[in-house]
Amino acid sequence: MTTAVSSPVANGRDVDRQWAVETHGLVKRFDDNVAVNGVELLVPRGCAFGYLGPNGAGKTTLIRVLLGLTRADAGTMSLLGYPVPEQRAVALARVGAIVDEPRFHSHLTGRQNLQILAAARERAARDRIAPSLERVGLQHRANDKVAKYSMGMRQRLGVAACLLGDPELLILDEPMNGLDPAGMRDMRDMILSLVAEGRTVVLSSHLLDEVERTCDAVAIVDRGNVIRQGSIAELLAGASVELQIECSDPDGARRILEATKLGTSVEVGPNGLEAKLPLGTGRDAIAEVNRQLVEAGISVYRLQEVQASLESWFLQVTSRLGSSE
Ligand SMILES: Nc1ncnc2c1ncn2[C@@H]1O[C@H](COP(=O)(O)OP(=O)(O)OP(=O)(O)O)[C@@H](O)[C@H]1O
Ligand SMILES: [Mg+2]
Repeated sequence: MTTAVSSPVANGRDVDRQWAVETHGLVKRFDDNVAVNGVELLVPRGCAFGYLGPNGAGKTTLIRVLLGLTRADAGTMSLLGYPVPEQRAVALARVGAIVDEPRFHSHLTGRQNLQILAAARERAARDRIAPSLERVGLQHRANDKVAKYSMGMRQRLGVAACLLGDPELLILDEPMNGLDPAGMRDMRDMILSLVAEGRTVVLSSHLLDEVERTCDAVAIVDRGNVIRQGSIAELLAGASVELQIECSDPDGARRILEATKLGTSVEVGPNGLEAKLPLGTGRDAIAEVNRQLVEAGISVYRLQEVQASLESWFLQVTSRLGSSE
């Protein structure tokens, strides 16, 4: 797919427009604590990208470094192809960000808050107030004081504030934080629609399920280290499907599955026989397991696929890393 984009020029050279965010060897230390540890990040343009990790993994710190709110100790980075800090002003003019919780004047209305923010920007920002409010579904509450807004409405007002600059890239730190399931769904739909408009959305989260549902690609970060990154499909391709099998002869079934190499780590557990199949093998492999057992005279009472989610994959990876240390 090719898209006609004007090619900006940085330092007299064409900017590499492929990556919305690119970092190499990025390091940020707080004394002995390495919050960002040699991070190599490549965020493709036009996607929703999740920066996923547990509390304290270094997500907010990375975002603060990218936005120039704190200085990196080592490494290089660029936003939308513009090297930062060298070309920070050009880059940040195309970026909208929410770090931690969006903060507003609570005694003013949503619209008044946006008016203050727009006044500090280019003229066109004023004209974007109404469409931005509409875009995030706040047009009917725009004249209410922010003090009366729910958490979800504040988060949406935060996104509206980002949209005043018509950004190519949005960086949202934990946008799902504090939202109830309906609020999360609204936020997810909004992120997806921003991506559908051709923008790139980078979001940090410790909510594996939300990242899996919202994002096309993900980097998994633990203690400052990016331990995996890629499209969600690619990451899951390395995972396995777990099958639970209830049958008349679990030990016989285990011997068959081990001999045919259909499954790995086949064990008789409390829920019957548990076998792991490579995820890439697909549904045919499950049917083949059933056929082999039935042909061997074993009655199969239940054959259940335990869905491999990014969450179980994440736990597999992190526990593997933990045990190898
Ligand atoms: N200003 C600071 N001074 C000292 N240490 C800091 C500072 N900011 C962050 N840290 C430390 O850096 C590490 C990463 O923190 P960070 O806030 O980036 O994590 P996070 O992934 O955003 O966590 P959370 O999910 O809780 O928001 C933590 O060990 C934290 O204590
Ligand atoms: Mg954080």
